[in-house]
Amino acid sequence: MTGATQDVVIRPSRPADRQRLLDLLAANSRDALSEAEQESYGFVQPGLGEDTLAAMESDTGIVVAEVAGQVVGFVGTARHAAATTGPLAALLAELDYLRFNGRPVTEQRYAFYGPIVVDRAFRGKGLARLLFGGARQVLAGHADVGLLFVEDSNRHSLAVHIAGLGMDCVGGFTHAGRRFSILAFAVPAPPDAD
Ligand SMILES: CC(C)(COP(=O)(O)OP(=O)(O)OC[C@H]1O[C@@H](n2cnc3c(N)ncnc32)[C@H](O)[C@@H]1OP(=O)(O)O)[C@@H](O)C(=O)NCCC(=O)NCCS
Repeated sequence: MTGATQDVVIRPSRPADRQRLLDLLAANSRDALSEAEQESYGFVQPGLGEDTLAAMESDTGIVVAEVAGQVVGFVGTARHAAATTGPLAALLAELDYLRFNGRPVTEQRYAFYGPIVVDRAFRGKGLARLLFGGARQVLAGHADVGLLFVEDSNRHSLAVHIAGLGMDCVGGFTHAGRRFSILAFAVPAPPDAD
């Protein structure tokens, strides 16, 4: 993308990006933001850290957006997810009940998307759209459907992902007294597929 001033590079994460990704997660964690900030800007779930990033990097990977040599956003992807606690575990417990494109999700190849974060100074410029494109590209050939959960109080993220990026709401769950929606999107076939 060419923004108003600078080009954006979309690429896989590198080990040297790790601290920056952790800083972006920490700065945008629900616990780090006031309720007014959560409402205006969106937030990621607390407790995401090294383990989350390492698991995604050893799976289909993390896609970053870089502007002028600085990572200003990222999204994680994974085909495999193991969790016994937290909202991800609650999402996994719902898998058998989800349908997308007229078929049970469990009869398709599915993968997970998120967390996604864009530095506040770079929002509203289409970076999430570019990261979504990068995520679909890395998942192409590995999955047919991408899944994510969004806390319902994160109305900003729900608007970006449903109204903005065109995802479908395919389910939901309650975890620790909080309500979450499950969103889904189609993963394209790889460009050289028949
Ligand atoms: C959510 C977040 C990643 C969005 O990043 P962003 O770079 O500002 O998003 P984009 O500019 O790419 O917007 C994507 C699309 O959503 C649209 N959009 C944004 N806000 C919208 C709204 N309130 N209603 C409808 N569409 C909206 C944009 O117009 C854009 O579509 P377009 O390309 O057709 O114009 C960013 O706000 C963020 O990091 N928030 C904090 C962390 C967070 O909430 N993460 C999600 C956790 S589930």
